[in-house]
Amino acid sequence: MTAQAGICAEPNLHAYYLFFNIQPGCQSEVREKLKAVPALWEELKQTYPEAAFSGLVAIGNEAWDGLYPRRPNELTAFPAQGDGDRSAPETPVDLFFQLRADRLDVAYIAAQRVMALLASLAELKDERQGFRYLDCRDMTGFVDGTENPEGEHRAEVALVAEGPFAGGSYVHVQRYHHRMARWQKLSLTSQEKIYGRTKADNIEFASADKAPTAHTKRTSLKDAAGNSMEILRQSMPWGSATEQGLVFISCCSTPLHFTRMLESMYQEDEAGNFDHLTLFTRPETGAAFFAPSEAWLERAGE
Ligand code: HEM
Repeated sequence: MTAQAGICAEPNLHAYYLFFNIQPGCQSEVREKLKAVPALWEELKQTYPEAAFSGLVAIGNEAWDGLYPRRPNELTAFPAQGDGDRSAPETPVDLFFQLRADRLDVAYIAAQRVMALLASLAELKDERQGFRYLDCRDMTGFVDGTENPEGEHRAEVALVAEGPFAGGSYVHVQRYHHRMARWQKLSLTSQEKIYGRTKADNIEFASADKAPTAHTKRTSLKDAAGNSMEILRQSMPWGSATEQGLVFISCCSTPLHFTRMLESMYQEDEAGNFDHLTLFTRPETGAAFFAPSEAWLERAGE
């Protein structure tokens, strides 16, 4: 089954992120429109070959049953965490589009095509523009994506391998809003301790030197059999003159890995440790999706 190219795409320069809710009673029309999405991705790729365009549409947990007859086994609600100042809320939304290219105008054209496709059938709830910042750095100044799976391993981590949903991916999206003033008051040493990596040259601390509160410590997890629980991150920074953050995107063959990582970031362990990155950035949204294969979209699961 051909996966949508946006799931395993290599990092590039620009992104548009569009989030929609389907208008009441418009599910069957939306299902018809989604059949045409793989052809739209192909047309944009062919028209602008140098732009490395990749598209992705993912269907929200709450919207799935209204669109398709069968449900991916593991699709469940977003695993919200905590409350108050340090929390990861659940904010369900029906459709998520990730439109990526090395040309901003091509990503923009893709966004306009998606808007036209869903006109009067779905309401745009949020839009965000992502962009490469320096050498693939997050707005906190650290290189993001270094430990992502590489080459063929990207597909092994991100795609369901077998069954009716083969070629699909469980997708989690959170829009993080950084507390930049607070972050910038930290010393370089404190910032590096929070990630467990050096800032300028992006070198990983030895495991023994990582604090139990370091982001890379809390997100490096193993299952009961000792296998690494991996995800493929497709995140990109967003920012205006006054606000900055990250559109965090996880693609995986199971929702379990993202869920365990988020729990490990937000929930205190026996020693009272949690991920200190969560003191400096807040997720304002959080939603769980499944991104079906192109064949599934074209046949509407039949
Ligand atoms: C604003 C939020 C976040 C920022 C700025 C951020 C940034 C980073 C950075 C700079 C790294 C180190 C370099 C790398 O390997 O990519 C990293 C690693 C990682 N992050 Fe995040 N991250 C965020 C949220 C998350 C979330 C929500 C998860 C999963 C629930 C996550 C999972 C991971 C994983 C799995 C690694 C690799 C760990 C390793 O094997 O060393 N991150 N992140």
